Amino acid sequence: MTVIDQIHQHRSIRKYKPDPVPDGILSEILEAGMRTSSSGNMQTYSIVISRDPVMKEYLLEPHMKQSMVVDAPVFLTFCADFHRMRRWLKLSQAPDNFDNYFSFMIGAIDAILVSQTVALAAESKGLGICYLGSTLANADQIGDILDLPPNVIPVVGFSLGYPAEQPALRDRLPASGLIHWERYQQYTDKDILEIYSERETKGWDRYMRSKWLKEEVEKSGVENLAQLYTIVKYTQDSHQDFSNSFLQYLSNQDFMNNLPE
Ligand SMILES: Cc1cc2nc3c(=O)[nH]c(=O)nc-3n(C[C@H](O)[C@H](O)[C@H](O)COP(=O)(O)O)c2cc1C
Repeated sequence: MTVIDQIHQHRSIRKYKPDPVPDGILSEILEAGMRTSSSGNMQTYSIVISRDPVMKEYLLEPHMKQSMVVDAPVFLTFCADFHRMRRWLKLSQAPDNFDNYFSFMIGAIDAILVSQTVALAAESKGLGICYLGSTLANADQIGDILDLPPNVIPVVGFSLGYPAEQPALRDRLPASGLIHWERYQQYTDKDILEIYSERETKGWDRYMRSKWLKEEVEKSGVENLAQLYTIVKYTQDSHQDFSNSFLQYLSNQDFMNNLPE
């Protein structure tokens, strides 16, 4: 299969066989990840591998009890990491300019790019992955469990293992809604509704197959997918709380210095 064919076969895998991921294959996909471009080639990321069932059990709660954390043989947490670099600067009598929000973003971009290379490498080996947004939402709790030192922040994570399911490919918004030539295309309301029209039915049908979401929708009187997203799934309160705890964690981890008043 070509790389592009493989990319088009991607689907998130949430059910895994118990078979372990052989060490050789794990090393191979991580080595592939390490070839990813990084800002200034500083490689300001770390990858924490969780294979010990006890460690995965600890991670289950901050990952909002998503069972793939414990069911998959491996869970990978990709962290923005300026800890190593800043220690090296200190040992080399170099100024430390990386105690700020911009540096966190550099580390986060490095970590996220590496994660996707590892994901593609894993899929090329017949493995499956599923990202978990809880990595960012509960970064502080996950950081404590993984013993992350200052200047290290979990940003993305995924379960990894051999698929025990072959879900249907999920739809994507049309290219006309995502790609802009030369300048940003300004959308009319009609354009927006067209871009989301297929999603409105396919996304709704998919969510209605989830017992929990169906019950929540019935309780809250939600009538369409857009409402489902922000009244049930991603609420104002949850997103505000996650924002506040994440900003506090960035500060605790020494990334929020010298901000303007
Ligand atoms: C950053 C990120 C966070 C995600 N978080 C979750 C999650 O917490 N639980 C989950 O089941 N899927 C999660 N997903 C998977 C998405 O739901 C999935 O990628 C999307 O529905 C498209 O489906 P596909 O990957 O099968 O094509 C996440 C994906 C990304 C990129």
